Amino acid sequence: MPTFKAPETVVIFVLGGPGAGKGTQCGELVKDCGFRHFSAGDLLREEQDREGSTYGEIIKTCIVEGKIVPMEITIKLLENAMVKALQPSESGEVWEKGKGTFLIDGFPRKMDQALKFEEDVCQSSMVIFFETTLEVMKKRLLKRGETSGRADDNEASIVKRFETYESQTKPVIEHYAKLDKVLRIDSSRTVEEVHEETKTKIFEKLAKNSGN
Ligand code: ADP
Ligand code: C5P
Ligand code: MG
Repeated sequence: MPTFKAPETVVIFVLGGPGAGKGTQCGELVKDCGFRHFSAGDLLREEQDREGSTYGEIIKTCIVEGKIVPMEITIKLLENAMVKALQPSESGEVWEKGKGTFLIDGFPRKMDQALKFEEDVCQSSMVIFFETTLEVMKKRLLKRGETSGRADDNEASIVKRFETYESQTKPVIEHYAKLDKVLRIDSSRTVEEVHEETKTKIFEKLAKNSGN
């Protein structure tokens, strides 16, 4: 049995190529709708830097090479973060204002992650797919690389990340499209335009899922 039950817990997978704007849009949704946001990449970088972590080296190598980190590591980090977020609080805020809705950003990047997460952690309610061209993504990543300090925001890693995206992540999007779970959003536009469409589509889908 999964740790969390849908639809009480709403899991929204957020996908798109590297630099498509996933993190930016999740930030907007948190501000606007109160959802919780966990980026698989951010959790992996945190674990990589954690003193005493057994997985530091393997995470570091995978990130620079644009490869997928073994799924057990990423799934455990996400599950731990969700469990912590839903711990009872005295103020009773845990389930208020969209707080039972989780944006799981940059995940699942590969089919095995998708199947295992849904079996062990929570069924997904929908998948947001931020779609733009490789050209736009590359331009955004190189610009971000000027200040991000990320080991993978450089030409060599970007090529490898794009390959992984095409070969491993696109099939995940196709899988969920067949299940009619994917909201496609053109993320080439401004942050505000993309946000407005995303918000509208999420609430339409939530209403549809609940039969309204
Ligand atoms: P991802 O999480 O998909 O890798 P980010 O949200 O980090 O992407 O965005 C990549 C870079 O592009 C960041 O520097 C961000 O500020 C910028 N960015 C995000 N969305 C837009 C947009 N709609 N227009 C222009 N730049 C954007
Ligand atoms: O999403 P983000 O671009 O921050 O991910 C950075 C890297 O983290 C990926 O290129 C990959 O090496 C690793 N990652 C992963 N599995 C995920 C998400 C990220 O292996 N689901
Ligand atoms: Mg990101």
